[in-house]
Formats: sequence, C-alpha cells, structure tokens
Amino acid sequence: MCLITRNSEFAAELLRQGELIGLPTETVYGLAGNALDEAAVRKIFALKQRPSFNPLIVHIGRFEDLKIVASEVPFSLEKLAKHFWPGPLTLLLPRSANIPDIVTAGKPLVAVRMPAHPMAQEVLHRIDFPLAAPSANPFGAISPTRAEHVARYFRGNLSLVLDGGPCRSGLESTIVGIDNGELVLYRHGSITLEMLREIAGSVRVHTREETAPQAPGMLLKHYAPSTRLILTDNVYEALGELGQSKVGVLSFNRSYEHPVIVCQMVLSPAGNLQEAASRLYDALHQLDTMQLDYIVADRFPEGELGAGINDRLERASAQ
Ligand code: TXA
Ligand code: MG
Repeated sequence: MCLITRNSEFAAELLRQGELIGLPTETVYGLAGNALDEAAVRKIFALKQRPSFNPLIVHIGRFEDLKIVASEVPFSLEKLAKHFWPGPLTLLLPRSANIPDIVTAGKPLVAVRMPAHPMAQEVLHRIDFPLAAPSANPFGAISPTRAEHVARYFRGNLSLVLDGGPCRSGLESTIVGIDNGELVLYRHGSITLEMLREIAGSVRVHTREETAPQAPGMLLKHYAPSTRLILTDNVYEALGELGQSKVGVLSFNRSYEHPVIVCQMVLSPAGNLQEAASRLYDALHQLDTMQLDYIVADRFPEGELGAGINDRLERASAQ
C-alpha cells in the first residue's frame, strides 16, 4: 500500500531511516532519498529501473547547503542561483567528496537545485541531508504531476507519497552548466532560455547533434505514454493518414473536428503557455488510460515555454 499524506514529519522520518518517498516539487513529483546514503540512492535506481549511467539531481533546502554538495560554485552559475532559487533551475557544479559516485554516475559534476514547493522546503528543513530525486516515474515513462500518478506507478513498492497537490510548473527543471567558460542550456524547462539570457547574457543551447550528451534526460525516447504519440505541425493532415483509428488529440489552444477523434485535450483555451505546461503531463496520463490507437499532438509555438513543451513532445513521440 502506498500512503498518500500531507504529513511531512512522517515523510522526513522515513527519509532519515534510509527509505524513499514521493516528494512534490513545483515541477514534477520526485522519488526522493538521502543523497549522501549510497544504499538509499541504490533503491531509487532499482525502483525506477533507471540505468546506472543516468545521474540524479540533488535537492537542497538552503543556500548554505551548497557547500555540502559542491566543491565550488562558478560565479556565473551562482548569479543564476541567486536569481532563480528557490525554483525550477538545476545547475551542474563540481561535486564535493560527500556525494557518492552513484549519484553522479561517476561524473565530476553534480546536478543541484533548490525546489520552491513549500512542502519540499518543509521536508528539506526537517532533515539534515540533501535529497537525490529523479522524477517519480518508471524510466522513460510520463513524469508525474499529481500524488496519485506516483502512487499508481509504484503501488506497494513505495510506502509514502507526500501530497502537495498538482504541480504548478509541470515541466522538469531547466538544466544549465558551463562548457569552455560558456553557459550552456542542457535541458529546456520551466525557466526559459529567454529568462536565462535576461540575467546571464549569452547562453548556448546544447543540441542533440552534439555527441556524449551531458544530460541523458536528453535521451531521445523519454517522457513517453504507452500509446503511440504523433507530433505534427498539421493535425488534420496527420488525422487523415490514420484511417479507422481511435485518436486522442492534444493541442495548445485550438480544437479540431474529425470523425476519428474520440477525445480532445486543449491545454489552454486562453493560449497561456504556463497553463498549458502545467497541464501537459496530466493530459498525457489521462489520454494514455483511454485505450486509444494514437495520440496526435499539435506542435506548440517555439518561443519561451513552447521550447520545453515541444522538447518533451518530441521525446514522447520518438520510436
Ligand atoms: O524538475 C526536476 O528536475 C525534477 C524534480 C523532481 O526535481 N527532477 C528530474 O529528475 O527531472 P530526472 O532524473 O528525471 O532528470 C534529471 C536529469 C537527467 O536528464 C540527468 O541525466 C541530468 O538531470 N543530470 C543529473 N545529474 C547530472 C550530471 N551530473 N551531469 C549531467 N546531467 C545530469
Ligand atoms: Mg525524468
């Protein structure tokens, strides 16, 4: 049985005992354990069936805790932290000796963020260690944005999910690091490229063509429903090619009429990208339970949060 509760002290006690919990953050729910305890971190990899080459993000509650996890903080990244923390920004920093190899998959850098969700903050302030937490989904599956998503994924294999309500941002954190003295965006997320550039000036975007991706969350197939998802610039054309199928349509702000459509999710009829991002994964979870033959997703406008949404839809549609 997986308990869904708002009792943060109970959650903190499980963490102190080396157990895992489902943790709400402003982006998605995390599967959290003591980042300094190798055995606890092993449980995260096992429960998620995550390949060991894919490192975890470490979550801290206060700025002072940076020195527990990182050996130094380059000035340009510190500037971003000061501006965006607590919030959905993850920084790649030189790791400290406290961080077990398994957390960073042996890499010299550790991914760190300070979540803004009040319940994540509450738990982090009750414990005296940082939390390693990947998104609380089995490897490759849709990220969870509600406590029920987490409980449904792990059932009896996870004892507790803290219920912090639906996630406000709904896209995973933006990942930023430094390469050759230059700021690099490794994963699009809730903090957009435009927001980063406003604070930091120039920021390069890591492209898929670059070899040896630093962030394997950049793995091509990811965030995927089990129903085949087709991402398109032209919904009607895509529908026309599907013959006699049962299709669910996922779109930003417009709706479509076509005989094969059995369900339609318009993420923000008002055309608000933030609202659309916060509803994206929940809509995919719902569409995925409807026994459809296909999900057809309408590509978003590319700027601002549209970049992160399209990135997730592209990975969800990869074969
Ligand atoms: O919003 C988020 O970031 C959520 C919440 C729970 O905080 N977490 C999350 O974790 O999305 P996960 O494991 O699903 O994605 C973490 C990404 C992966 O793509 C991983 O490869 C990358 O961060 N990453 C972690 N440590 C890294 C490191 N040392 N170097 C490069 N990439 C790293
Ligand atoms: Mg994930």
